Amino acid sequence: MAETDQTPPPADQLDALNLSDAVQNHSFSDRVLIRSIVGRPDGGAGLAGQRVRAGGWVKTGREQGKGTFAFLELNDGSCPANLQVIVDAGVAVLGKLVATGTCVVVDGILKVPPEGTRQRIELRVEQVVHIGEVDPAKYPIPKTKLTLEFLRDHLHLRSRTNTIAAIARIRNALAFATHSFFQEHHFLYVHTPIITTSDCEGAGEMFQVTTLISEAEKLEKELIKTPSPSEVDIEAARQLVSERGEAVKQLKAAKASKEDISASVVELNKAKESLSKLEERFKLTPGIPQKDGKIDYTQDFFARQAFLTVSGQLQVETYACAVSNVYTFGPTFRAEHSHTSRHLAEFWMVEPEIAFADLQDDMNCAEAYVKYMCKWLLEKCLGDMEFMAKNYDKGCIDRLRMVASTPFVRISYTEAVEQLEEAVKGGKKFENEVEWGFDLASEHERYLTEVKFQKPVIVYNYPKGIKAFYMRLNDDLKTVAAMDVLVPKVGELIGGSQREERYEVIRERIIEMGLPLEPYEWYLDLRRYGTVKHCGFGLGFERMILFATGIDNIRDVIPFPRYPGRADL
Ligand code: 4AD
Ligand code: MG
Repeated sequence: MAETDQTPPPADQLDALNLSDAVQNHSFSDRVLIRSIVGRPDGGAGLAGQRVRAGGWVKTGREQGKGTFAFLELNDGSCPANLQVIVDAGVAVLGKLVATGTCVVVDGILKVPPEGTRQRIELRVEQVVHIGEVDPAKYPIPKTKLTLEFLRDHLHLRSRTNTIAAIARIRNALAFATHSFFQEHHFLYVHTPIITTSDCEGAGEMFQVTTLISEAEKLEKELIKTPSPSEVDIEAARQLVSERGEAVKQLKAAKASKEDISASVVELNKAKESLSKLEERFKLTPGIPQKDGKIDYTQDFFARQAFLTVSGQLQVETYACAVSNVYTFGPTFRAEHSHTSRHLAEFWMVEPEIAFADLQDDMNCAEAYVKYMCKWLLEKCLGDMEFMAKNYDKGCIDRLRMVASTPFVRISYTEAVEQLEEAVKGGKKFENEVEWGFDLASEHERYLTEVKFQKPVIVYNYPKGIKAFYMRLNDDLKTVAAMDVLVPKVGELIGGSQREERYEVIRERIIEMGLPLEPYEWYLDLRRYGTVKHCGFGLGFERMILFATGIDNIRDVIPFPRYPGRADL
């Protein structure tokens, strides 16, 4: 992995600016962003002579001129390029500044460097304001060729690398583009729940949310500290209650004073209270509560079984069927034991849902959205994309251009299977069998988009047996109005469908797929009352980043990857 890129970002990274203006501090700190110096169309040259404060982390530092001065490459994450900083030995102890990872804040004057250097501007330091030192012998990510795999073991520090920072900026840009696209098209952003009691995909790959286990552990510890009362304790407490009851009776019979009687009633009540507490504790049993041989979820936090969501679709449909165009964008969770480079246990999904729209509209929306994101990156993130092209995937910029400008191929599942069968006849070998009715494997998807068509492909009308219950049944009664968008590098980027809006049909489909009706009653209400034709899709946000950057493993395009066996930080 290269950690040395220093090319200034192209002009389009900055908003239009007047090159003769004095450089401004960041709005909420007392220093200038490095991008507002080196990210200018003139590479910062027009700022020569200005006095600025800059801060960042040293990418590379070296003492020169027999220790009389030091060169520092400073980066604050505001753009891929570094600011070259020159510090004289008279200004600071150079040895404290040069280690990779050191944080420095410096005041100085911007100067045009001598002819023949790559930089268009450099900072001559007058004062070092802050040093956050690094011991290079101990720093876990010293500047060497660090693999992405190695960096996965240092999640808390990997954002300091050029690669992870560039991916973070691209990810941020794609999130902004997403909101921009849907807002421009009058979609309402709806927050769907993370904790859910419905299984959207009906695939049972959900993480359970429960406090039963921690409650059981708490109780276990408590019972060790204060053991439950024994039968003898209970008997003694009962005895005390009856003795005190007797005492009250006797006082009353002897016509004792009011004061004496109420004092003995107080004693009696105390004994009763202590008995009931003991009886309560006597009932406590360690372990997970059970009823009729099963776990008793009525005693769980939500008084029923709950899970982390696999998709916000079902909930967002309730808003689509009321305010017509909506989208949700949030984390989703799948407890599949997939160790592939395309799967995470926690990933982000963008899910629009459109009322009064069918499968064609769905495909049109998906295609427009993907194209919009590609154009956005080309316009706003070219510096980072160039870094990716140089270090990871030569073709990534061309791919964005191609996808932004080429209509997507649209073929039915049946046609896709025919294409694959033809390829097999022509000698192409697949590990998974191709047969109508089987789901397409990743290798089939990638063959279609990377080899056969060499552009994004939308496959629609899948066999009903391999798709979720909510997809609209086609007139052939064999296929459903599903669509998957396949793109080079990734395979499946988007999965969507027209939804089954006919009450009787969807009810039948739920039963046919062996799912219980009861949990979906609320979903059926959307069809019972004021039903409407509608459609939607889900785009795997990390897969979009893989596609854009050419990074090979999905674990490197999410800040804190979660996958089987790992959930660091
Ligand atoms: O195809 P999926 O399972 O579709 C749904 O969940 C629908 N409810 C979406 C909808 O219609 N609103 O997932 C959608 C996309 C996939 O195409 C893929 O890009 C991504 O989510 N995805 C994953 N990304 C990373 N890790 C995983 N484990 C993923 N599973 C799905
Ligand atoms: Mg899918």
